[in-house]
Amino acid sequence: MDDELNALRRTRMRWNTPLSEPHAELLLDRMELAGGHLVDLGCGWGELLLRAAARAPGLHVTGVDTDVTGLERGRAAAASRGLSVDFLEADAASWDVAAERAFCIGAAHIFGSTKGALDALARVVAPGGRLLYGDGFWAAPPGPAAREIFGPDVLTLPDLLDAATGAGWRVLHLSTADRLEWDDFESTSRRAWEEWLAAHPADPRAGAVREWLDRRLREYVRGYRGVLGFTYLVLGR
Ligand SMILES: C[S@@+](CC[C@H](N)C(=O)[O-])C[C@H]1O[C@@H](n2cnc3c(N)ncnc32)[C@H](O)[C@@H]1O
Repeated sequence: MDDELNALRRTRMRWNTPLSEPHAELLLDRMELAGGHLVDLGCGWGELLLRAAARAPGLHVTGVDTDVTGLERGRAAAASRGLSVDFLEADAASWDVAAERAFCIGAAHIFGSTKGALDALARVVAPGGRLLYGDGFWAAPPGPAAREIFGPDVLTLPDLLDAATGAGWRVLHLSTADRLEWDDFESTSRRAWEEWLAAHPADPRAGAVREWLDRRLREYVRGYRGVLGFTYLVLGR
């Protein structure tokens, strides 16, 4: 798909994870944000980071991602809300500046696996600090379609918690995305292209867009709805 359509695709999403507004507020409460440095590794457009910056004006806030479109959206949102957030284009896998608080949500793949992420993030978060970690897990045994989409590294929730404690973390908070959060995430991930398709039915790209939208909905409903879970952990060390 071309740059114009790629830039459009996520514009109807609040953030790129299954998360409601009240759930986000709860997670930010549990992070006990105050001063110091907060870094978000794989921040996307950093909506949760912006909420954190708005809550804790004394915080030094940095978002790291490789996706220029997301970073530009984050910078524009920060400017329009009068917030000071550094959005850096960089490979988060090589981030080596210690922080009192960190987010890593839906971005474990940056570090190769869930276990790799939990180990690497323990080297980023300073002793006494906190990590908000979001990751997928098998909520029900996956069929071949779900395994094909998400690969062999997805854990069950108990195994994910073992990986966290094995990396030296204490689990201070655990919650999981509910069905409405998932359905809204999936629907908003398709919405901008559905709107474009309705407005441009004769565009030469319409067939490919329709095919992508139909496949994504089919994969969700037939492959991983209720099978892939998503957990949010506030981890301390
Ligand atoms: C599922 S999105 C989650 C974004 C964000 N955490 C959120 O919850 O909205 C995963 C993000 O990881 C980013 N990413 C992938 N590889 C990366 C890397 N090596 N360094 C930094 N970011 C990376 C992608 O560009 C994408 O924005």
